[in-house]
Order: sequence, then C-alpha cells, then structure tokens
Amino acid sequence: MKKNKVNIHISGIAMVMLPAILVLMAMLGWGFGLFTGIEEEPYINREENLIVVGVSQLGSESGWRTANTESVQKALTKQNGYFLIFNNARQKQENQIKAIRSFISQRVDYIVLAPVVESGWETVLQEAKEAGIPVIVMDRSVDVSDQSLYTTHVGSDSVEEGKKAGYWLEEHLARKGLSNQEINIVVLKGTEGASAQIGRTVGFSMIAGQHDNWNILEQEYGDFTIYKGKEVMENFLQKYDDIDVVISQNDDMTFGAIEAIKESGRTVGVGGDITIISFDAVHDALEMVAEGTINVDIECNPDQGKYISDVIQLLESGQEVEKRYYVEEDVYTMQNVTEEVLNERIY
Ligand code: AHR
Repeated sequence: MKKNKVNIHISGIAMVMLPAILVLMAMLGWGFGLFTGIEEEPYINREENLIVVGVSQLGSESGWRTANTESVQKALTKQNGYFLIFNNARQKQENQIKAIRSFISQRVDYIVLAPVVESGWETVLQEAKEAGIPVIVMDRSVDVSDQSLYTTHVGSDSVEEGKKAGYWLEEHLARKGLSNQEINIVVLKGTEGASAQIGRTVGFSMIAGQHDNWNILEQEYGDFTIYKGKEVMENFLQKYDDIDVVISQNDDMTFGAIEAIKESGRTVGVGGDITIISFDAVHDALEMVAEGTINVDIECNPDQGKYISDVIQLLESGQEVEKRYYVEEDVYTMQNVTEEVLNERIY
C-alpha cells in the first residue's frame, strides 16, 4: 500500500517536471539525437550562396583521424565559401549510410565520404548519383564495380605504403648483415575491411613474399586504436618469445604495442630487441622516431582538406577532375626527423 503511494507520488512529480525537462533538453539541442543517434539537421540558409558540403567522417579512433577531421573543418569554412555539415559515424557503416541519406534529403551540393570499410556502398552511392550529388571519397577507398558512383577519390595509396614498409625492412636487414637470417614478424592490422588495412597488408605481403626467411608468425586486427594495439601485442608476446619485427599499421596501435613490449621487459627500436615499423607519422610518433623508439614511420598524410576544397572548386568551374588524387607522403627514420620537421608537423 505504502509502496504504491510512493510510486504515485514520484510519477506525479515526474509528470509535473516532464515538460520542463523536455524544454531543457531541446534547449541543449539534445533530445532526439540522444536517443536515436541521429543528429539534428542544420538550417541551411540558401541565400548565403555557400557551397553546401555534407561530410561523413568514419569516426575518431586515432590521432590521425582527429587531424583529418580538423583539416577538413579548416578548409571548408564560411570564409572560404562553404557550409559544412559534419557527421561522425563512430566506426559504423550504418551510421555513414544514414548520414549520406540525410545529406541527400537536405539537397547538399557535395558529399564527402571517408568510408570505414571498402565494400557495401553501391545502394547509397546510387541514391546520391540519382539525386545528382557528386560524391568525393576521402582517405580510404570504396570498392564498387560501377566507378561512376563516385566522382573522385582523394587519399593515400595504401598498397604503396605497405610496400614501403617492406622495402625499408629489406634495406635495414641488409645494412645489419641479416639479409639471410630467419626473421620473425608479427603484424598488427587496422580495422577489418578498411582499405587502409587491406592495402597495407597486401603491399607488405608482396615484399615479404620475396623473402623465404621472413616468417610472418601472426597477423591480427587491432582496430587502429591504442587500446586494441596493446591488447593484441600482449597476446603476441605471450605466444611468441622470438619476435624480431612488429609491423603496426598505425601510430596509435604502435603506442599501445610499445607499452606492451616494454612491460614484458623487452626493448624496442634502434638497438633494441624488437624493430618497430609504424604507419601515419603523426607528431608524437615522429618524436619517438627521433629518439629511436620507433625505427621507421611510413607517412599517411591526413591533411586532405585543401585537396577536397581544390577538387570542389574545379567541379564548380565546370572542369574535369581526375579519378584519383594521391596526397604527398614520405618515409621517416632517425636520419630525416629533424627539429624543423617536428616543428612544422601540424598533425
Ligand atoms: O585510413 C587511414 C588510417 O585510419 C590511419 O592510418 C589511421 O591512423 C586511421 O585511423
């Protein structure tokens, strides 16, 4: 009996408070999005004559990704003539598909898609094509049989990045006089199905396949995150006590892997037990290259906003664009990470 009274009392208060709570949530711009995961559509003032661009970013899993987002946000500003609608898909392809459909219904002028995985885009890209909206694929690539489903791709050549890692290892072993020794390698792969992961794996395997003495002990997905990188590396270290080389497909996983290796009592980098080959070359990783903790870092350049803006400007002026634009990328070792390189690195 008493219990009921309490319940009635609480629900009475809730009834009185509910409108106030809803108003507060609406004021905070919350409500709908909090429960559904769908962000509210912004008001686009067409009279401002801005180029409306919907950007579907795959997530915020790494330092590289944050830099990539910042690069796009810096390039597509109002001052530069753009109205940017940005959506973070939190690593889910379904969220990216929802975002693209929302961009189509808002009749944006361009869609920029940084795809989390490379397959499964046909249907939604067809919808964008039918709506007459050019799609610019950024960073990772899409695998579609009909190439007319997107206008152009701005990003990296990830197969080439993987090969660069292999070439560096060849030269490193030659310099040490170890070209004919058995070399045990483990590979920390990025997100399953992502073109950056697939390309780097393929590229490195092409070079590794030319060396019978390179033993790839195991390859495991580490999702491009510090946490997963550490977990996978701990697992490798428990299974194998003779790892010579770690290929880690991004800097975040490398940071986690190095922590795991150090905790296991082994040493890394130049003169250490385990050679570290990383990808991305973000500022913090380059500092570790300079001090010899990471042996080599294969750059993946996230500063792609300017390229996206240039492509849009070409399209706006009715010019043809290439199907692919590769961003400039380098390979960093202790020898070329100078003070100047570190000071100039914006990501
Ligand atoms: O697609 C590029 C990769 O994605 C970068 O190497 C990685 O850091 C990011 O998360």
